[in-house]
Amino acid sequence: MVDVKSICCIGAGYVGGPTCAVIAYKCHNIKVTIVDLNQARIDAWNSDKLPIYEPGLEEVVFDRRGKNLFFTTDVDAAIEEADLIFVSVNTPTKKTGMGAGMAADLAYIEGATRRIAEVATRSKIVVEKSTVPCRTAESMRTILEANSTGSIHFDILSNPEFLAEGTAIKDLLNPDRVLIGALQTPEGISAQKSLAAVYQNWVPEDRVITTNLWSSELSKLAANALLAQRISSINALSAICEATGADVDEVAYACGRDSRLGSKFLKASVGFGGSCFQKDILNLVYLSQQLNLPEVADYWQQVVIMNEYQKKRFVRKIISTLFNTITNKRIAVLGFAFKKDTGDTRESAAITLIKDFIDENAHVAIYDPKVEHEQIYMDLAEPGVVDNRKQLEKRISICADAYEACKGADAVVIVTEWDEFKSDQLDYQRIYDNMHKPAFLFDGRLLLDAAQIRAIGFKVHIIGKNELAGTA
Ligand code: NAD
Ligand code: UDX
Repeated sequence: MVDVKSICCIGAGYVGGPTCAVIAYKCHNIKVTIVDLNQARIDAWNSDKLPIYEPGLEEVVFDRRGKNLFFTTDVDAAIEEADLIFVSVNTPTKKTGMGAGMAADLAYIEGATRRIAEVATRSKIVVEKSTVPCRTAESMRTILEANSTGSIHFDILSNPEFLAEGTAIKDLLNPDRVLIGALQTPEGISAQKSLAAVYQNWVPEDRVITTNLWSSELSKLAANALLAQRISSINALSAICEATGADVDEVAYACGRDSRLGSKFLKASVGFGGSCFQKDILNLVYLSQQLNLPEVADYWQQVVIMNEYQKKRFVRKIISTLFNTITNKRIAVLGFAFKKDTGDTRESAAITLIKDFIDENAHVAIYDPKVEHEQIYMDLAEPGVVDNRKQLEKRISICADAYEACKGADAVVIVTEWDEFKSDQLDYQRIYDNMHKPAFLFDGRLLLDAAQIRAIGFKVHIIGKNELAGTA
């Protein structure tokens, strides 16, 4: 078993950065070097303003940076020095070619793997941290073995990451489990023990799960598919609630009290976003298709179909409520991130909604507490939304706070569940006073106290709730 003293992490993103910063924080005797090809990102990691917003991240990074935690673009030197290398690069959905729109693009994984093979002059443990299709480790091993010289040996481990954005540091400091998959050979098991020993500096032994390599790879896709499936299930029920007068929060609570079901991840919403759920389910769908399991593929695909339906259903409700037209109306969108406590906008429901509002010729006023303004322009200027920046600037305003966004609005739409949008945090009377009447409010996050908001005078629609609920 190797006593790991030096770790390199390839990929300084939302996963590589926080994950390896926490390892440095908890293991002062291990030198951790996080590398990336993106100079701007590395510069930001070395500055006072980190490239990602995550509660608790600054404390961890500022505590260890320059001591046993380093950020650099010198990929080769870090590979050469490391006993263990995490590969934590992006694995986005392929945009073109075979499997486009479904399969994971493994070009970054392959690029990083080839680099390790070219640079390493001694044996290494190579760890898949990225989320990958089942059996990717086999391709990595083939590349490493074919490109390395005689005496060097590589062990490949799968150690998928289960952190959620917004709670990443909390999740990393106190994980439900750490999963480490390895080939069940003496070398594989020994490498598995080496990585387990790193985590056991702060994670209780019984939370470190060891499995075979393929179970570990598949468990990551499976966990995300199961979580997303719960959200699509409650969102499907939210449509029934709106049509019947049942209340989706009450249904979720009543179901969640069954200990077999559990209460988490049953919050109805305007649809799940984030860089993982859709990508990983599509990955599973593609894998099922490749394995000639069409019924299995269709089953998982339905989770994504329901998510798209939920977003479109919400938009249709907004347009029909606003007398079937939002042309030249001001729609205030509160929240642009895919969830609270992050500045990440990848696959955010806000993007789909705002695109639809723009298509209907509305003017959209956007406020989010953490998302950079330039990021909003980039997301909305994607081809198919509004290609031209000047045109886009005429159609949207990015505001400094919620009051500015809502001023003169015909409707307010809550898309992200930021605490500051709650009924007791924002002055909804002030918002109402400054809006066109009738003043409509659409809550896509079940954030508001409907009775309180209605008492002000708002016409309110909350996802999964029917205005006539409670009446005969
Ligand atoms: P990201 O895009 O934020 O970061 C990936 C980084 O890797 C980028 O900065 C990129 O420049 C860098 N990179 C790519 N190829 C490189 C190379 N050859 N050498 C050096 N750097 C290279 O992505 P992320 O959100 O951190 O996700 C990384 C992986 O983790 C993905 O597979 C994702 O599915 C998985 N994951 C993400 C989350 C999440 O919450 N974001 C959670 C669990 C798992
Ligand atoms: C997810 C997984 O939770 C995490 O384990 C994995 O490592 C990466 O993918 P993340 O996407 O960061 O994490 O956030 P998560 O909290 O899972 O939320 C994803 C989306 O689902 C968000 O848009 C969130 O608002 C939405 N959601 C979540 C709901 O709509 N309802 C819920 O009950 C929970």
